[in-house]
Amino acid sequence: KIVNVILSGGVGSRLWPLSRKARPKQYLPIFEGKTLFQRTAIRNQEFCDQILVVGNADNYHLSRKDLDGAGIQEFQEIIEACPRNTAAAIAFAAFALQPEDILFVTPSDHLIHADGTYAAAVYRAIQLAKQGFLVTFGLKPTHPETGFGYIEFQGEEVLSFREKPDFETAQSFIEKGNFYWNSGMFCFQAGVYLEELKSFEPELYAASKIAWEGSKEGKLELELSLQIPSISVDYAVMEQSKKVKVVPAQFQWSDMGSFESIYEYLEAQGHPKDENGNMVIGTPVHTEFTGMKNTLLIQTEDAILVLQREKAQDVKKVYERLEKEK
Ligand code: GDD
Ligand code: MG
Repeated sequence: KIVNVILSGGVGSRLWPLSRKARPKQYLPIFEGKTLFQRTAIRNQEFCDQILVVGNADNYHLSRKDLDGAGIQEFQEIIEACPRNTAAAIAFAAFALQPEDILFVTPSDHLIHADGTYAAAVYRAIQLAKQGFLVTFGLKPTHPETGFGYIEFQGEEVLSFREKPDFETAQSFIEKGNFYWNSGMFCFQAGVYLEELKSFEPELYAASKIAWEGSKEGKLELELSLQIPSISVDYAVMEQSKKVKVVPAQFQWSDMGSFESIYEYLEAQGHPKDENGNMVIGTPVHTEFTGMKNTLLIQTEDAILVLQREKAQDVKKVYERLEKEK
């Protein structure tokens, strides 16, 4: 059985005020009338026999509503009591399924143009997963982004995996030329993943297992969940395992992680901006910029953000400060 495990745990703090705790970015219907979450589920239907959503107590009703809106009636869900990062979220999915089941793990907040190259990459990944590998998807890097994982490759072989390097390291990777960006999607057998997790992060494995065994009908319990170390799958498994393979991917992909990527996306869609690169998102109110370059004005019902495009990563700090002040 091939299962699309949709990870939907993040808040999307770098997209405040569009993205809120009560409505994280993957549930915003701003992409041709659909949400990124819906597009993920629809895109992967043809490759998978089943959908398993791993989300949390704050957002599972949004996932349900989205799936319903996309006409998808059948799905399984795991509801986390609190976010414990992706290594644990994927472990819950693996525990819930059979060891030989193939997990096609996808984030819920990426924008992907699912053409033939996407299908070819997914089918190849499934083939390699059946042979016992942990499969990653490699994208050609365009700039030394520090928010991604880097895959040193030789064909489909992975020489090394390095999560979120600093800027200089990222730059040296790009200069060397045999590095891909990690797409954040993975494909492997449930049993293979759990074995690798157990050998590299025994504590995380054990705590996740105990938490899973204490869950009821897919609902995790808070006390047990808090015992799980919060580590992403990239650090916990991909950086350490010798079983990692990479499928080179040509499809159009955007991690809608910051206003920088939203800006690029909207720009390509023909969204208006002025001659100095200033752009308005979310308000019909006539807006003028004087003496400013590459500025974004983002307005929602209850908040306005004015942002220098180059500082898109700093929005996370705003979000964190506001959370603290609450
Ligand atoms: N259920 C659940 N629980 N989901 C989670 C949790 C959690 O605790 N934490 C994160 N997620 C979900 C997010 O909602 C997102 O869909 C996905 O898992 C990945 O998490 P991110 O927090 O967005 O990871 P990242 O962007 O920093 O890095 C990953 O993606 C990059 C590409 O976008 C890594 O895999 C990088 O290597 C990769 O380059
Ligand atoms: Mg991300």
